[in-house]
Amino acid sequence: MRKTSMVDKRRVAPIASSAKGSKALIRRNVMEALGEPAHVFDAFAGTGEFYREVWKDAASYVGCDLRYFTDDRAAYVADNRRVLRAIDLSRFNLFDLDAYGMPWEQAIIIAARRRIKAGERIGFVFTEGGGLTYKNNIVPRSVANLTGLSHDKAVGLFRRRTDIHSAIVSALAKRMQAKVTARWQGIGRAGTNVAYIGLVLEAASGVAARVRGSGNRVASRAVNPS
Ligand SMILES: C[S@@+](CC[C@H](N)C(=O)[O-])C[C@H]1O[C@@H](n2cnc3c(N)ncnc32)[C@H](O)[C@@H]1O
Repeated sequence: MRKTSMVDKRRVAPIASSAKGSKALIRRNVMEALGEPAHVFDAFAGTGEFYREVWKDAASYVGCDLRYFTDDRAAYVADNRRVLRAIDLSRFNLFDLDAYGMPWEQAIIIAARRRIKAGERIGFVFTEGGGLTYKNNIVPRSVANLTGLSHDKAVGLFRRRTDIHSAIVSALAKRMQAKVTARWQGIGRAGTNVAYIGLVLEAASGVAARVRGSGNRVASRAVNPS
């Protein structure tokens, strides 16, 4: 797993590349790094694989999926973009965007609507199945929106994927006026073209105060979680 050059390396902890284990581990890490009870919005809730693995231990959980699943989870059965634009997001501090394709349109909506209060932390888990898109040098609108990458000039996108993810993370943090306090990333099995990212953001001023007051607590979160 290559580390990226576009973020503070102390804050990026790459994880092992076994698909399901990595995805569960990233979720556990993000939940733990919040340092407060996790209130999860699971925007691509699916059959509940990660609910059973991880989110059942969260303080609260609400799912969302286009499909209805007959189980005990509270869930919206709708397009998550409509739900994310409509509901009060302040009651959630952890957003799971486990998309088959690109999760960035949903991330853009959350970044626009979920203000982070001073001292508060927000967690994200992203699954990006965009490998083929990048291999074909296609820049989806959501990626262009966040990174400024231009479709007509795109070359070598798959090779630059980690850098693109770093640019996306930076853009989201900037829009939320936040700093990245922890980040984990992994790539799925060879050939699957799937990337996993776990992120914890904190209001920018809150981070500065915490670092000054505690001998760099931010850096201490960069310890490899595996
Ligand atoms: C990779 S699966 C998610 C698996 C899930 N995280 C789990 O733990 O079982 C992706 C899910 O997203 C749902 N989905 C795709 N696009 C969606 C959208 N725009 N809004 C809501 N759900 C969507 C699909 O129906 C599918 O169940």
